[in-house]
Amino acid sequence: MGFKVAIVGATGNVGREMLNILEERGFPVDEVVALASRRSLGTEVSFGDRTLKVKVLDTYDFSDTDLCIMSAGGNVSKEWSPKIGKQGCVVIDNSSAFRYDQDVPLIVPEVNPDAISGFSKKNIIANPNCSTAQLVVALKPLHDKARIKRVVVATYQSVSGAGKEGMDELFTQTRAVFVADPVEAKKFTKRIAFNVIPHIDVFLDDGFTKEEWKMVAETKKMLDPKIKLTATCVRVPVFIGHSEAVNIEFEDPITADEAREILRDAPGCLVIDKREDGGYATPIDSAGEDATYISRIREDSTVDNGLAMWIVSDNLRKGAALNAVQIAELLVERGLITPKKKAA
Ligand SMILES: NC(=O)c1ccc[n+]([C@@H]2O[C@H](COP(=O)([O-])OP(=O)(O)OC[C@H]3O[C@@H](n4cnc5c(N)ncnc54)[C@H](OP(=O)(O)O)[C@@H]3O)[C@@H](O)[C@H]2O)c1
Repeated sequence: MGFKVAIVGATGNVGREMLNILEERGFPVDEVVALASRRSLGTEVSFGDRTLKVKVLDTYDFSDTDLCIMSAGGNVSKEWSPKIGKQGCVVIDNSSAFRYDQDVPLIVPEVNPDAISGFSKKNIIANPNCSTAQLVVALKPLHDKARIKRVVVATYQSVSGAGKEGMDELFTQTRAVFVADPVEAKKFTKRIAFNVIPHIDVFLDDGFTKEEWKMVAETKKMLDPKIKLTATCVRVPVFIGHSEAVNIEFEDPITADEAREILRDAPGCLVIDKREDGGYATPIDSAGEDATYISRIREDSTVDNGLAMWIVSDNLRKGAALNAVQIAELLVERGLITPKKKAA
């Protein structure tokens, strides 16, 4: 017997990918319910070869639903996740609403699967920010080998990280530039077509942005609170796939060759690192793929025990939907969730 699974935000970028991945990986479902706002009432989304009519979140009763995967933004999650959890339905939340709550585990299955056991306090499990998810998949096996002291990261984040409106804006502006129409910026703070914007999420008092702060807080929560991390997060005119230029300082010596070997064997990682033209991964290579790609691994002689590398992944998959489905699989594998129908 399978599970009854609700996807909140099923019409969005992440929600659609969630439906694809649940189907692709054969997650044991009896029924999948697609939920969104009133705007989407009656629209349809695909789940494998089936078509699901979208229902409205506000009027849906979760009492016989086993699992709810939320990807409808922080405000919707803040209002709904606790209510859904109280109805005995386990929530896996893609927003930042509960990531820093001590009673909510923040999980990347390749990194801290054992932390999942804490979910029962609120029946909520948080999925990390897209940039952090791919970063920690690569950092974890290296940390196990040589203890990371400090990480300096610059991100190159695609517009799909800002939802479907972000993708529409890049498309519309690019076309406007070609046909010499006026270019309007609505979703992003400056023009994104043929440009880069060093600003994601709101500014904080110390001059960093919330996106940059999230990378620090989430890496500490999932990997090790002792790791120092500083980030600069940048939006780039790429549709899918986040890239990161990462500099890592370790406690113990580690060579580029050792790091390459460790990452070749690490779960979720795929090393593409030939020192020749095209011998590295780019966001287009990662789109539609599950792996976190690691390239350009090299020793940084300006610090003791330093490595530099380039990390790329599909932000809608490992950065969101895939990781959420892997969390759901972990719940099932560990027997932490059983179908309500079976229990009744
Ligand atoms: N994109 C990424 O790389 C990424 C990565 C990690 C986490 N996330 C998180 O995932 C969430 C969704 O991101 P996205 O990129 O999929 O955004 P999106 O493409 O803009 O989709 C938003 C979805 O939320 C639904 N929604 C909005 N308001 C709602 C309401 N009041 N009630 C019910 N549903 C509502 C929308 O439904 P309608 O179509 O009816 O408006 C739509 O299905 C966000 O929390 C985001 O931070 C995204």
